[in-house]
Amino acid sequence: MNCLQTWPEPIVRVQSLAESGIRKLPNRYIKPHNERPQLTLLNPQDDINVPVISLQDLFSGNESLREATLASISSACREWGFFQVVNHGVDPELMKRARDTWREFFEQPLEEKQRYANSPDTYEGYGSRLGVEKAALLDWSDYFFLHYMPPSLRKQEKWPSIPNSCRNLITEYGNEVVRLCGTLMKILSINLGLEEDQLQNAFGGENNDIGACLRVNFYPKCPQPDLTLGLSSHSDPGGITVLLPDENVPGLQVRKGNNWITVKPAPNSFIVNIGDQIQVLSNAIYKSVEHRVIANSVKGRVSLALFYNPKSDFVIEPMKQLITKDRPALYPAMTFDEYRLYVRTKGPCGKSQLESLKSLR
Ligand code: OGA
Ligand code: NI
Repeated sequence: MNCLQTWPEPIVRVQSLAESGIRKLPNRYIKPHNERPQLTLLNPQDDINVPVISLQDLFSGNESLREATLASISSACREWGFFQVVNHGVDPELMKRARDTWREFFEQPLEEKQRYANSPDTYEGYGSRLGVEKAALLDWSDYFFLHYMPPSLRKQEKWPSIPNSCRNLITEYGNEVVRLCGTLMKILSINLGLEEDQLQNAFGGENNDIGACLRVNFYPKCPQPDLTLGLSSHSDPGGITVLLPDENVPGLQVRKGNNWITVKPAPNSFIVNIGDQIQVLSNAIYKSVEHRVIANSVKGRVSLALFYNPKSDFVIEPMKQLITKDRPALYPAMTFDEYRLYVRTKGPCGKSQLESLKSLR
């Protein structure tokens, strides 16, 4: 673990670069041609969007409406690995407060944010890079990362104390979104043909001992958005991600075949996606799909990603019921702690990790 104790070079806050008024992007942020976002070709298929699914009918008591909702989620998981949920039971007021509060945090003076500067051993706190490879190309974003579950990993003193509503808000928001994740886990479990609680038990056992982390991303406005990315292509290493997007500034793109589709968030929606651990547990019936974030020359963007993860020392492997003679187990058994060391060392790199594991078998 020694290699993960410190950053390989001094950290530069992207927000400080953006606010310094530079007109040209420093070389560290310029991506190779094949990774650049081709902004002029944005939305060649403007009518395509990640499916929007209302969860209202799950709780209506009407069995056929409930089945229809399950079926839409099932096809979204298979065809996109992504969907948006509305009528999900989380108060839109709380969602707005969460966005506003975190925006306020990033608007604090640099010295205030630096009190929370993170290091790569836990990533907790204020950060500006993922991965510890010296001289790696960097993404055009800063972030704040914190552990929310299990409660034993919650360190309130590491959470922002300014704005002073922040700590309470994190708890209120975390509770609501973790509850939503519990509902989604049941739906996925049923849709995979498993018992309702099976997927959840595979994450945390009977005690519901799951992990959850919050990463608040801040993508400052960028002088040359066509040369860089706010967040490079990656799949999420964990279980399920529930993202609160910035309603005013688009940026998230999802891979669909050879195209990148820009997500157009529905009002008061969360964007849900499948992570690598569900790909492993489902034996690749569900895929964790690559996504990335483009930068924007006009406005900064804030997003809150809650990662719902297996208990970190739990062994994750394809579920027995989903292994057949025709479809043998595609991935080796591994704990989430072992798994996430890779992305913490290398930073975001598409789907290279899961692909490399496949060849181990
Ligand atoms: C992430 C992520 C997307 C976004 O944090 O893993 O993919 O829109 N974020 O910020
Ligand atoms: Ni992601």
